[in-house]
Amino acid sequence: MATGDSREDRLDALLEETRVFAPPAAFAAAANVRDPEVYERAAADPAAFWAEQAAGLRWMRPYTDVLAGAVPHVRWFAGGRLNVADNCVDRHCEGPRRNKAALLWVAESGETRTITYQQLQREVARCANVLRSLGVRRGDRVGIYMGMVPEAVVAMLACARIGAPHTVVFGGFSAEALRERLVDAQCKVLITQDGAYRRGNVVALLQNAASAVRGAPPVERVLVLRRIGAPALAAELPAGMQVDWQQAMADASTDCPCEPMDSEDVLYILYTSGTTGKPKGIVHTTAGYLLGVATTHRWIFDLKEDDVYWCTADIGWVTGHSYVLYGPLCNGATTVLYEGTPDYPGRDRHWRIVEELGVNVYYTAPTTIRTFMRWGPQEPAHADLSSLRLLGSVGEPINPEAWMWYHEHIGGGRCPIVDTWWQTETGMIMITPLPGIVPTKPGSATRPFPAVGAEVLDERGLPVGPGAGGNLVLTQPWPAMARTIFGDDERFVRQYWSRYSGKYLTGDGARVDADGYFWLLGRVDDVMNVSGHRLSTYEIESALVDHASVAEAAVIGRFDAVKGQAIAAFVTLKETGSGGVGGAGTDGLKADLKQHVGRKIGPIARPDDIFFTAELPKTRSGKIMRRLLRDIAEGRALGDTTTLADPAVVQSLKEQYEEAGEGAD
Ligand code: WT7
Repeated sequence: MATGDSREDRLDALLEETRVFAPPAAFAAAANVRDPEVYERAAADPAAFWAEQAAGLRWMRPYTDVLAGAVPHVRWFAGGRLNVADNCVDRHCEGPRRNKAALLWVAESGETRTITYQQLQREVARCANVLRSLGVRRGDRVGIYMGMVPEAVVAMLACARIGAPHTVVFGGFSAEALRERLVDAQCKVLITQDGAYRRGNVVALLQNAASAVRGAPPVERVLVLRRIGAPALAAELPAGMQVDWQQAMADASTDCPCEPMDSEDVLYILYTSGTTGKPKGIVHTTAGYLLGVATTHRWIFDLKEDDVYWCTADIGWVTGHSYVLYGPLCNGATTVLYEGTPDYPGRDRHWRIVEELGVNVYYTAPTTIRTFMRWGPQEPAHADLSSLRLLGSVGEPINPEAWMWYHEHIGGGRCPIVDTWWQTETGMIMITPLPGIVPTKPGSATRPFPAVGAEVLDERGLPVGPGAGGNLVLTQPWPAMARTIFGDDERFVRQYWSRYSGKYLTGDGARVDADGYFWLLGRVDDVMNVSGHRLSTYEIESALVDHASVAEAAVIGRFDAVKGQAIAAFVTLKETGSGGVGGAGTDGLKADLKQHVGRKIGPIARPDDIFFTAELPKTRSGKIMRRLLRDIAEGRALGDTTTLADPAVVQSLKEQYEEAGEGAD
């Protein structure tokens, strides 16, 4: 259980004992990027750097300016026209990549499918025609609520082909969370599947979709892929609203020219949690986004023409968008898509896939690596992992123990590790080693990508010195940057661009060491990172307060050795109501509250611990003292309690924690 073993506490010791891993000589000699001067050249003229890269895209009309306007409202490659599906699929069909595998799909059942670029092209064109036949026009939004199936990739690219921004909602989100996003983005069509396989069970996606759509009037039609073979129609929806994917695709023509899109047309909206209850629809546009993800993908993952590349992220998160789909396919890579979980049917599933497909580059999250650590080195030891050349990490700071385990037991001591820092809002990787050039230090994301500007600032906006902590900001526009929050540009400006003039506030704390290496310290706001997924404390508090028995709730992220953070909820109950009276909750109510949050937001948001309290610890001005709650949840000596309105509150909470032993619940 928690020991107060936070990253911040340990960083000083860490910085002193850090080992440095130089790129292995053989790797460095063959690396795509070998010239360290690329950093200086890019810094001297960022626009020229990006323009040079942009020559690698296929344009329908050349752009006039690399960068126009001023932050935050910039336009990249202004005046240009291109299509993302054309760049990710069609152009590869005109040369030797025509019969190359674009997607290697592994179903949870073990079934596999190889989809070549040419096959993908035909599927995408068909799906684009299906969407058109459902009334989707350029600029209309399309919701996608699917599992890890090739059709999800086809659906996203079909949207890009006709210029309809997609908004993908992770399949683990609840009906209510889906509805909120469909309504906010005003989606006209929703694409889903009858069910998804997960650990041998079926997740009822269509049932959730049907219930979401009933409260989302803008959705006119629902396109349903039959994945599990259940009757495709949901009883809850009028039959005329539902369209069978297989049927519609069989009838559709493969003739569908790519829509010429403006560089700044919206490619997609992706929702992410902020510090309020309302998720933010992050808007990414066409040319800059595609260029940013393709360039970083090629450079950071050292992509070779015959590589098999596997990023394990779900398509529902930004990592899935940028580094399962758009970056790799724009580069003509072979990208692996796996439907299931790492422990099904056995805990060696990933390693079996690496062996079977000969995976060369493997990119995953620290929480997954820590889960593998817990399962033990015998799982990867049974498989032949010699095809692996490079490993990546993303989603949260990677602890040095996990880094070393990854290096040794997965990388066999020979693979460089790229720890990549970025966000939904940045669209592309921002802080990372270039694996052929930059020596790595376990636990550090190293340095900004060429032409990316990053600084750590204090409260007054001055750079902190080496070793000191502060706010991580990005100092220069980059092509894949978010352009706005859908429907709320004011929030976009206030949230990201107002704290320090002309600079982007990341919301992360960081330190820079004497060598200029960045060490990420986690969020500085009320945003949690649970298993690499961003969750807002406020959203979970709102879900709890929505329960009939709850009067007030405070949620914090506490240290967790596997998930990074776990969710601890402090709850006061109504004097009257079901399940408990005046602060005396039962175990049954705890279970009920967890389930309630799972239903409201999704299983990922279920609290790990629930503490009942007659009163929340507040300052005299009524502010909840989150630091104290964190101390309690992590079993630490209590910090300063002198500003508390009622010190007795904390004492009773602490006793509850101690009684519960292993962390309340
Ligand atoms: C937040 C962004 C970017 C894709 C996945 C998450 C944390 C992400 C790292 C890293 C330290 C990291 C940050 C960031 N984060 N990668 N390599 N080292 N922290 O996307 O949901 O938008 O979350 O994840 O706190 O702000 P996201």
